[in-house]
Amino acid sequence: MTPEEIFRKHLAPTSPFPLGIHIDYAKGVYLYGKDGKQYIDMIAGIGVASVGHQNPLVVDAIKKQLDKHSHVMVYGEYIQDSVNGLAEKLTSLLPSSLNTCYFVNSGTEANEAAIKLAKRATGRPKIISFLKSYHGNTQGSMSVSASEVKKQKFRPLIPGVEFIEFNSIEALDAIDEQTAGVIIEPIQGDAGVRIPGQEFMTALRKRCNQTGAKLIFDEVQTGMGRTGKLFAFEHYGIVPDILTLAKGLGGGLPIGAFIASNGMMQLLSDNPMLGHITTFGGNPVCAASALATLNIISEPIFLESIEPKGKLLEQELQHPEVKAIRRKGLMLAVELQNEDKVNRLIEYCLEHGVVIYWFLSTRNSFRISPPLTITKEEIKEACDIIYQGMKLL
Ligand SMILES: Cc1ncc(COP(=O)(O)O)c(C=O)c1O
Repeated sequence: MTPEEIFRKHLAPTSPFPLGIHIDYAKGVYLYGKDGKQYIDMIAGIGVASVGHQNPLVVDAIKKQLDKHSHVMVYGEYIQDSVNGLAEKLTSLLPSSLNTCYFVNSGTEANEAAIKLAKRATGRPKIISFLKSYHGNTQGSMSVSASEVKKQKFRPLIPGVEFIEFNSIEALDAIDEQTAGVIIEPIQGDAGVRIPGQEFMTALRKRCNQTGAKLIFDEVQTGMGRTGKLFAFEHYGIVPDILTLAKGLGGGLPIGAFIASNGMMQLLSDNPMLGHITTFGGNPVCAASALATLNIISEPIFLESIEPKGKLLEQELQHPEVKAIRRKGLMLAVELQNEDKVNRLIEYCLEHGVVIYWFLSTRNSFRISPPLTITKEEIKEACDIIYQGMKLL
């Protein structure tokens, strides 16, 4: 069987239209196909390879950890230096109320756990989420994600979830004394990079304070420098009660986290004991990779480079076919006139060596989220090709 036949027959599909590049290796912002073709990766595996593919500092950290040990025990039992190091570094970069990390394996898992923690901490039944939100694909995270199309064949989902309008101060009245938690992406990703206003975010924090509902920021996509600050909540000067991370956290290896105050986190070990457990969460090799990645991203000079590069991308993509560009840092949605044009452009770019990608639900826009290490020259190289493709639409 050819590799493509094996891929088609023995790997479960997620859609009838996989990009289907047969990867040989990847380096920096480039992917190299087995067919000898080179691609500029303008999506970074959807916001994951933030410090570039095979970043030497990250690879070195992984190798060093592998030489010592990989999995030795389930989460929470042994003291492991790379896991300790990651928790210490992460919390040193966060406000003092977010001082305790629980490492898991993915974004959806971090959100599942955050919802559990909000319920455990408040004893309340209700979760508020927002229209057009996306929080993951397991049952709990799917329950707090908005897309009816994606949910309808998987019901029943978890009860007690209410969806309200994003960026609407009036809608916040739905948060009440029955609300355990409010889960929100501080910039909605899958909705096509929807950026809420400062007043809304301030009112959201205030309403949660008034009612005692725990404010959960899902920064799975916006975290780790993607928006030009280490965490997107920094743009708004407010602090969530629970922060969830994944994607760019691991520098290419799978790791997620939910982070809250030590007092709140203690609740997961008591009444019931083992209130949240995971075998692989906080894998030491993933933690070593994450720590090396965080050491790179958290440097002020690195963080300051992100917004100007985003701005350049935005400038280079100005074309009459573009209806709108929504952007913060290097997180971009480029809106075209319709879904068909988006499909044709993605296909053209793939053929000509640039990977751009769809949003799950916002089909008239395409996504750009390159490695944060991308250079201005690489941005221009990619945009030239995207621009040529737009001319043919
Ligand atoms: C905002 C947000 N939350 C959660 C998730 C789910 O993360 P994962 O795919 O690692 O489960 C995603 C994935 O795209 C996301 O964008």
